[in-house]
Amino acid sequence: MKGLVLSGGEGTRLRPITHTSAKQLIPVANKPVLFYGLEAIREAGITEVGIIVGDTWQEIQEAAGDGSRWGLKITYIRQEAPLGLAHAVLAAEEFIGDEAFVMYLGDNIIKDGIKDLVNEFRSQRPNSQILLVSVPNPSQFGVAELQDGKVVRLEEKPEKPKSDLALVGVYMFDANIFKAAKAIKPSWRNELEITDAIQWLIDHEYKVVPHLVTGWWKDTGKLEDMLDANRLILDTIEARIEGDVDEGSTIQFRVIIEKGAEIQNSVIRGPAIIGAKTVIRNAYVGPFTSIDANCRVDNVEIQHSIVCEKTVIMDHPSQRTFRIEDSLIGTNVEIKRTTQKPRAHRFLLGDSSKVELL
Ligand code: DAU
Repeated sequence: MKGLVLSGGEGTRLRPITHTSAKQLIPVANKPVLFYGLEAIREAGITEVGIIVGDTWQEIQEAAGDGSRWGLKITYIRQEAPLGLAHAVLAAEEFIGDEAFVMYLGDNIIKDGIKDLVNEFRSQRPNSQILLVSVPNPSQFGVAELQDGKVVRLEEKPEKPKSDLALVGVYMFDANIFKAAKAIKPSWRNELEITDAIQWLIDHEYKVVPHLVTGWWKDTGKLEDMLDANRLILDTIEARIEGDVDEGSTIQFRVIIEKGAEIQNSVIRGPAIIGAKTVIRNAYVGPFTSIDANCRVDNVEIQHSIVCEKTVIMDHPSQRTFRIEDSLIGTNVEIKRTTQKPRAHRFLLGDSSKVELL
């Protein structure tokens, strides 16, 4: 079997971060979302992986490389525009050939991985296996309707969902999916939908098997989901302290402090992760916070947040009123207190930025 990871698309719901970088590279517990999928595929015994890339191809390629660090052989496949998941499948037709494959959406994380599911598919050999999970908000996903345990209908983001079973972004197919993807027409949002292609398989009597997922699963397409995924992954980390923690600091619960990080006169309350060479000074880092490498956090309180690489957040020691929560802060961002006159907030924010001030 081969793997196909979808890492094109636009990431409109995570702007402005995705104006400048790929949503699949936003870190969850200091690791790009995309890497969770690549690791899950490798763990399922698959070594040949195609990654669908769009405008952000360069960044994705720089981050994942040739895949050898995971024991994978990665081929990059350029999709000319994000015209839908079934369109991405067609772009990969030459790479896949007539093998069966697992398709993994590059912004999804599944806690229990996909090893058992891939094995199930390998032994039963249906034409397709789809993963379903019961969700409170089905209209934001592809939704499946089952009858007597069989899939009868799939609908993409329906206004009035017929069930609460959402399609998880991991699918298994044999080469018949190419026939299906060629037969369907673009949807109202002008995308070739994978849900329509699977419906075509069902309508033409191919065997499509559902599998209900019980562990947690996250589509990290929105800020809240990203923070949720970060919380769920941090909840599973084991403590490891490889950086320097001075005597004035306290580390509580499970915390990872990477090499070269310095914690000075601060409290870090886990679960949390502090990246390599990041300096935390006179600060409080609360639960469910990931601060990536080469950051500086001074005189600030922060929790339930993701801070990407090389970002500086500094308050003045006499003020110490910056308290940050529920935030996703990008790479190379600076948030600082200034004494410059006139006394005012000064912003240089990208399109679609969001700032909430007290
Ligand atoms: O996450 C599960 C959901 O994923 C399913 O329930 C839906 O049925 C399925 O359509 C999909 O919905 P999304 O709206 O979340 O898909 P999104 O546009 O976010 O794309 C998913 C991934 O695929 C993302 O990493 C970007 C990539 N992609 C997307 C499109 C449309 C491509 O590589 N090429 C594309 O043309």
